[in-house]
Amino acid sequence: MNKPTVVDRFRALFGRAPDFVARAPGRIEFIGNHTDYNGGTVLGAAIDRGVWVAVAARTDGPRRFATDQRDGVLALAAGAPEKQAGAASWTNYPLGILAALPAFGLRAPGGFDYLAMSDLPLGAGLSSSAAIEVSSALAFLALTNQAPSRETVVKVGRHAENHFVGVPCGILDQGVSGFGQKNRLVFIDCRGPHFDTVSLPAGAHFWIFNTHTKHALIDGLYASRHRECMEAAKALGVAQLADVTPAVFAQRGTSLPATLSRRAAHIVGEIARVGEVRGALGKDDLAAVGLALNASHASSRTQFENSTPELDFLVEILATAPHVYGARLTGGGFGGAVMALTAEKFAESDARKVAEAYAQKFDAVPDILHTQTGDGAALV
Ligand code: GLA
Repeated sequence: MNKPTVVDRFRALFGRAPDFVARAPGRIEFIGNHTDYNGGTVLGAAIDRGVWVAVAARTDGPRRFATDQRDGVLALAAGAPEKQAGAASWTNYPLGILAALPAFGLRAPGGFDYLAMSDLPLGAGLSSSAAIEVSSALAFLALTNQAPSRETVVKVGRHAENHFVGVPCGILDQGVSGFGQKNRLVFIDCRGPHFDTVSLPAGAHFWIFNTHTKHALIDGLYASRHRECMEAAKALGVAQLADVTPAVFAQRGTSLPATLSRRAAHIVGEIARVGEVRGALGKDDLAAVGLALNASHASSRTQFENSTPELDFLVEILATAPHVYGARLTGGGFGGAVMALTAEKFAESDARKVAEAYAQKFDAVPDILHTQTGDGAALV
């Protein structure tokens, strides 16, 4: 995907060139699983694929939405956005941005023509939703001649997801999409939030295995994990689980009901692992990073219970594959994708062997994506 392709498609649909084009990347959750909404730390990578949004102002009222993922143009009256269902539900991401802007003292545009295009696999745990939110936010802000900070843009994206789309997510996805940099990982201390980047050692490669499986109750499961974490924090007498150190948890964790204790153990352990990984990255010690990735997955499997047999199988196979440092589920879990951190020597043929083993067991072929880090969201 590139700007001329997006502009051509926009012209074909709306009969004129867009005023602005924005692009926001998808992300890999490197480590720090479900830590974000617990006030913890997390490391992620923006990847070299994303969502492109083109817009042009209209003076005659309606907001017209189109995407390369579906046929047709949806025209909605300008004014307070209303949540859409069915085939139009993809517009809830840009509509959520329009609804969120005033909460940050920003103006939403009136009428416009809007096109979203994506080279990011959808539903692969690479956060296409954050990518469309952040690129829409940048496009709408350009259309209204407003330029808030990058931090505000990513917060607008999260606000849309929390309050309009209705998922109680943290800042990870939008934060990484907004602050990503090529050859670097984004480090977020979600308590501020504070955004930083750390260098990714040369020779580190990412492979994504997308199972295309998705738990039917995925949104409800995410929300229930969120609720359990809040309950665990309350029972431990802290505002959020990030306030509990591993030492304190070792003493007091067992007083929690068993399920809450496991959930909290995952979060406290993950936050510690993010620290370990940050340290190991500083020493270019990818072997140590890989061990922490494997430990993160084991904790998802046994403590947070957000893995699936499909994801577990991939991680197990990858653990014995050559040139693999480590692997774990990436993102919310309950289906989706596994990320492997590998050396350069890990080849397409190695990835295919993993996919074949998976196909034999599950009678379905996972998509393989060899991806690189990429830059964060911007007008293009
Ligand atoms: C989803 C959410 C993020 C984060 C991850 C789990 O991707 O959108 O905010 O909670 O799950 O780490």
